[in-house]
Amino acid sequence: MSDTRANKRFRSQEWFDNPNNPGMTALYVERYQNQAFTRDELQGERPVIGIAQTGSDLTPCNKIHVFLMDRVKAGIRDAGGIPMEFPVHPIQETGKRPTAALDRNLQYLSLVEVLHGYPIDGVVLTTGCDKTTPAMLMGAATVDLPAIALNGGPMLDGWWNGKLAGSGTIVWESRRLLAEGKIDYEEFMSRVCASAPSLGHCNTMGTASTMNAMAEALGMSLTTCSAIPAPFRERMNMAYQTGRRIVDMVYDDLKPSDILTREAFENAIVVNSAIGGSTNAPPHLQAVARHAGVELDVTDWQKIGFDVPLLVNMQPAGEYLGESFYRAGGVPAVMGELKKAGRLHEDVMTVTGKSMSENLSGWESRDTRVIKTYDDPMRKNAGFLVLSGNLFDSALMKTSVISPDFQKRFLSEPGSEGIYEARAIVFEGPEDYHDRLNDPSLEIDENCILFIRNVGCVGYPGSAEVVNMQPPDAVIKRGVQHLPTVGDGRQSGTSESPSILNASPEAVVGGGLAYLKTGDRVRLNLNDSTLNALVDDADWQARIDAWQAPEIVSQTPWQEIYRTHVGQLSDGGCLELATTYQRVVRNLPRD
Ligand code: FES
Ligand code: MG
Repeated sequence: MSDTRANKRFRSQEWFDNPNNPGMTALYVERYQNQAFTRDELQGERPVIGIAQTGSDLTPCNKIHVFLMDRVKAGIRDAGGIPMEFPVHPIQETGKRPTAALDRNLQYLSLVEVLHGYPIDGVVLTTGCDKTTPAMLMGAATVDLPAIALNGGPMLDGWWNGKLAGSGTIVWESRRLLAEGKIDYEEFMSRVCASAPSLGHCNTMGTASTMNAMAEALGMSLTTCSAIPAPFRERMNMAYQTGRRIVDMVYDDLKPSDILTREAFENAIVVNSAIGGSTNAPPHLQAVARHAGVELDVTDWQKIGFDVPLLVNMQPAGEYLGESFYRAGGVPAVMGELKKAGRLHEDVMTVTGKSMSENLSGWESRDTRVIKTYDDPMRKNAGFLVLSGNLFDSALMKTSVISPDFQKRFLSEPGSEGIYEARAIVFEGPEDYHDRLNDPSLEIDENCILFIRNVGCVGYPGSAEVVNMQPPDAVIKRGVQHLPTVGDGRQSGTSESPSILNASPEAVVGGGLAYLKTGDRVRLNLNDSTLNALVDDADWQARIDAWQAPEIVSQTPWQEIYRTHVGQLSDGGCLELATTYQRVVRNLPRD
């Protein structure tokens, strides 16, 4: 035992070894020793490491963690800790209705309550599917116990007829082929299922790979952790190393508040642009930042991230999938290229106990087809635009997925570069969109923008991934794959759709989208990042005065609690009251 390990009193000893309250101590020890642990272990001055288990039969994206657990526990044991695995509320992106986003804050709450109320000295956060990563980081930030993120890794690459088939992205592509009549339902199903060949999370640079890259970019997981495919042996090694490392972090008292600094979030924003990351990253990182007590604003995404080039050639912005990304070096290779270009804060602390710069030593792209160099990128200025106007205070546009064809058709008319005027078509939600999209009386054509509202945090509830609406079948058959779309919901990180989304405030709380009507003219101006309804002020004011908030009907108690306390996407969609609780580990719960 090294000197730094001597005479350390752990938080868990307040439960298991507290002479001031022998009665309670006996009760704690008696029941924990009836399962796997001996009295010597529990009272032996060893840290208890919680492992927040997000994998289960209900959560296939994170199921790999059930099988990684032996390695995590072995690492914890070998480093002198006592592992205690516990479940948290499940979140499965493709399983939970009305949307998995509703449950991010519930998983967050359940983690906070467990970490605060049980004899735990440090925690391994198992992450993977979209919302599990931010929920775990948010909880760790609120509690501020030593914490380390271990993701399960992406699935192996999917293949269909000799071509890569990427998670989610193949759904959007095949949906259009189905609408065009080029494939039938059976082929549609086969194509989509081919994209999921193994355990793991989405193999595209969707929200899952993005958020795990964000965890690594923030310094919250070990170097290389995020991109290792789930079935690879390196994934099992990473599980073991993560278990070992968290024990040392407890001895060193290395906490999220030492790592989650403003500089770390700025690094994450830069990395997000370089990887072509998901539009879900801004609300999720915003939420982590708020729970960590770090100032971050939605406009920071454009200020810090817009002029960063796209380096990663991975679907949906590029062509490859997770296996190639990992072999090309994954996140440390991307960050190594960004570091060479001087785009990172290098001296930020990380879970390794070293600075980010030290972690990245020697890292650069190992395959420039997949990870480009900073001077020869996939495209320049690949970050998000943050738009505003009379329809919302803020909304995001992911520029890295805008196809040259779309750019040409919509944004570079001679004499009006970057400015696009169109007729608005307004849908009240996904059901209304599906019911009326092909209604000829709407006369939807290439000069329309599709709007969807009432699908934000309060409205849906939870904010639905529905803004990437496809055009009517007749328009697709004419060869137009995309129309501009706008909404107060989100869209899948695997979508290649050039949407304007996360509009805040949302319509049901009186945001500007609430007053738009089908047939209104709207103007998108990418030069000054605005989108406005071209309605005269008196008419607009009359609509505001006449507006009545739609009736909101919750189906479960949690939906009502969520709707009562949730903020807007631009503020991270947090439970607002929860953001006032910070570093709660400092206050020991009553015995
Ligand atoms: Fe779970 Fe994509 S659906 S990671
Ligand atoms: Mg999704």
